[in-house]
Amino acid sequence: MILEIRNIDTFYGLGHILHGLSLNLAEGEIVALLGRNGAGKTTTLRSITGLAPPRSGEIRYKGTNIAGLAPHRISRMGVALVPETRGIFSYLNARENLLIAERRGSRWTMDAVLRRFPALRGRLESKGRLLSGGEQEMLAIARALMTDPELMLLDEPSQGLAPLVVSAVMDTIRELKSRRVSMLLVEQNVEMALQLADRVYVIDHGTVVFEGAPAVLRADQGITATYLGVGA
Ligand SMILES: Nc1ncnc2c1ncn2[C@@H]1O[C@H](COP(=O)(O)OP(=O)(O)OP(=O)(O)O)[C@@H](O)[C@H]1O
Ligand SMILES: [Mg+2]
Repeated sequence: MILEIRNIDTFYGLGHILHGLSLNLAEGEIVALLGRNGAGKTTTLRSITGLAPPRSGEIRYKGTNIAGLAPHRISRMGVALVPETRGIFSYLNARENLLIAERRGSRWTMDAVLRRFPALRGRLESKGRLLSGGEQEMLAIARALMTDPELMLLDEPSQGLAPLVVSAVMDTIRELKSRRVSMLLVEQNVEMALQLADRVYVIDHGTVVFEGAPAVLRADQGITATYLGVGA
């Protein structure tokens, strides 16, 4: 297992958000994390990356408990977050946004990420705030890649994107999988997530309510209707 989350409890102030959440991810696996608005998906990713450290429980990454380590240390260990808000610096151009993440020895150089996202090549001198939603998402993924992650956490990468851009993002996720990058994928786009994922967790009120294969989830109308608002 590259990631083993055991029984974590995470709070925002007095708000108790994650309740004994456990989840694991094997090397090279794509795991989807689904659940309705406010279920605790983003909080789970923030717990892993140290932005919202859990108050109790363990987060083992390649066997080491990283719960409570500073975000920059977790990042240096090979964990990259592509946040829901994308986190593009508005007043830096696309090239500068990428260079910030440059890391010596990374398999993903500037050239390599531009080969993966050729659409960014012509936009390198444009300020972040002038990029389209799709370009910002590609830039956010490209920037995360430049840190050479072994584990990528993607928070709703398809949000607000045109169907063509969604397929480009899906292609990227498949390519990363072929390169053995492990991924935890949060999505509102259930269909996209089920197409990509090897395994799925559904969470509600900060706790796991389903764990299994995409086909099992598809067949479970109770879970999909109650927790994902899919079907009737
Ligand atoms: N910074 C914060 N301070 C206090 N409460 C927060 C904060 N961020 C999120 N919450 C609360 O924590 C709960 C879980 O939020 P979280 O963002 O993890 O949900 P989510 O599953 O990612 O939802 P969405 O699908 O809307 O992105 C929600 O009730 C939310 O209101
Ligand atoms: Mg969220």
